[in-house]
Amino acid sequence: MPQQPNNPLNTEGTGVVLLRKILDERYFPQLDFYLSQASFADGSSTASGGAKTVKHNLQIEAQDQIVLPQVQQLIAHALMDFPLFHAVAFPAKLYPFIISRYEVGMGYGWHTDSPLMGSPPVRTDLAMTLFLSEPDSYEGGELVIQDSQGTTSYKPQRGDAILYPCQYVHCVNEVKSGVRVAAVTWIQSMLRSQEQRQILFQLKQLHEALAQNNPHAPEAVQLIQTWSNLLRMWVEI
Ligand code: NI
Repeated sequence: MPQQPNNPLNTEGTGVVLLRKILDERYFPQLDFYLSQASFADGSSTASGGAKTVKHNLQIEAQDQIVLPQVQQLIAHALMDFPLFHAVAFPAKLYPFIISRYEVGMGYGWHTDSPLMGSPPVRTDLAMTLFLSEPDSYEGGELVIQDSQGTTSYKPQRGDAILYPCQYVHCVNEVKSGVRVAAVTWIQSMLRSQEQRQILFQLKQLHEALAQNNPHAPEAVQLIQTWSNLLRMWVEI
């Protein structure tokens, strides 16, 4: 059974975060329509170095100027409207989503992602896989991440995403039945350090808990002051 990621509040956390329901039922009919119109081609063309030889999947072709931009826009809008994404990732730049499709026998072996992607380049501080297929509609196809605490497999619900620091080696298990469709992107963060992002996220969570009881409590104001001062000290824009 694939495991769930660490609670992002865990101070020993690895920085792997599950973002639940970035897309929900409201988005699926439109998304399904777009995906039914898309044509997929060999995905190894967008990999580089060693990743090229272990990447076996299909992607909506980059030349697709009709379906691809619509899917990318739909997903990017939903993501940018998702407060937890901002609280965890502090996004500065987002690489355009790649829409990947794994059919039976396809997978993506162990690899690391390029440190820079696209032109103008995005520094890949974080990677994100947004799962677009129902988990029980395919066998295999787990995202597997080797982080500082070991190797963990992820296969969340449709519309959920796994966000993880890019320094980790990872793979996608071979699909044994069905089809796995996912949207993948990379994020340049305003905070390069995972530790700094983690500290600020924890402070934000604490502030929310305090402010729920009493939004004007002096402790709540002080806490958001500390959060602001640290962000100002560390941010790169
Ligand atoms: Ni990768």
